[in-house]
Amino acid sequence: MKHLIDPTDLTHEETNNIIALAEDIIVHREQYTTRMNGKKLATLFYEPSTRTRLSFTSAMMELGGNVLGFDDARSSSVSKGETVEDTVRVVGNFADIIAMRHPIEGAPLIASQVSNVPIINAGDGSHSHPTQTLTDLLTIKRELGHIDNITIGFCGDLRFGRTVHSLIKALSRYSGIKVILIAPETLRLPDYIKQDVCDRLGISYKEVRTLEEAIPCLDILYMTRVQKERFLDEDDYDRVKDSFILDAAKMKLAKPTMKVLHPLPRVNEILTEVDADPRAAYFRQVENGKFVRMALICRLLDWKNDSMHQMPVPHEVFIDDDTLHCRNPKCICNNEDVKSKFYASADNIVRCYYCDTKVR
Ligand code: NCD
Repeated sequence: MKHLIDPTDLTHEETNNIIALAEDIIVHREQYTTRMNGKKLATLFYEPSTRTRLSFTSAMMELGGNVLGFDDARSSSVSKGETVEDTVRVVGNFADIIAMRHPIEGAPLIASQVSNVPIINAGDGSHSHPTQTLTDLLTIKRELGHIDNITIGFCGDLRFGRTVHSLIKALSRYSGIKVILIAPETLRLPDYIKQDVCDRLGISYKEVRTLEEAIPCLDILYMTRVQKERFLDEDDYDRVKDSFILDAAKMKLAKPTMKVLHPLPRVNEILTEVDADPRAAYFRQVENGKFVRMALICRLLDWKNDSMHQMPVPHEVFIDDDTLHCRNPKCICNNEDVKSKFYASADNIVRCYYCDTKVR
């Protein structure tokens, strides 16, 4: 069985297969309206979400399936202290596939280890957001005609922005990708992505201080919101919240073919005056999210009993050492009765298996 917890759970071929199916759904929508008749999707959202949850719901409904679930953990047995594992074991009896969003990093991974139905990670803490990545890849493909050989600028909160982490990982499978990172000092891309993904897999990246110096060479500008809810201190948030704002004047510096993406919601990092620019692709991106989730649901259920489509065997070497401890308070191993597990990344740094935080 295949789950989608991290973008690299899908092979490059599987990723492209899902994107191709989404493109077919766009063209032949009427052929897919009964595809999921009799099937149910459970949306278990332990963290607020409007577009991702509605996108999943709408995707399943367009396929002729049904949706159940919760969007506020307080209204579920979680408020009685039920673990993620137990919730998933129970819900697997009621649904054919589960989409889970959780503020605790590694929660969907733990869920996938006990589930008898496919689990889709709809965002875990600041860690991963693989269905946004599929949305972004489909959007790049539709907007530019290709994903290989692009220069992409990531701007804003590269530290807490899980969509950025997941997209960079997925882009490492394509050739000729150049990444430009535009972030305030305190919101720079985590080292584990720079070292394990960019350095190890050969993505060339450069960090710059201003949007103005990056924008002229970009094919894609990926704007992000500063993730207020991940800050422990409001003053720290206030200091960086207005760091980079895209406006019509900056758009004048960009190529006529450059496209602007944003996972949304936006706060003030893109002024509304940019919306009318044909290069603003972020509202088209939302619709692509629905099509790609339709394709993903179809494929995960098609592949459920297919031995050709299994979860990848972790390439990391696990380290058995009782003296090690993950210090991320938002990691599943510090929130539920989960045995800590560590691996040595390519650069010999020991990291937590559930949240990738550096341990030693
Ligand atoms: C993103 C998320 O939840 O990480 N939104 C989304 O899924 N569309 C980005 C964000 O919240 O800033």
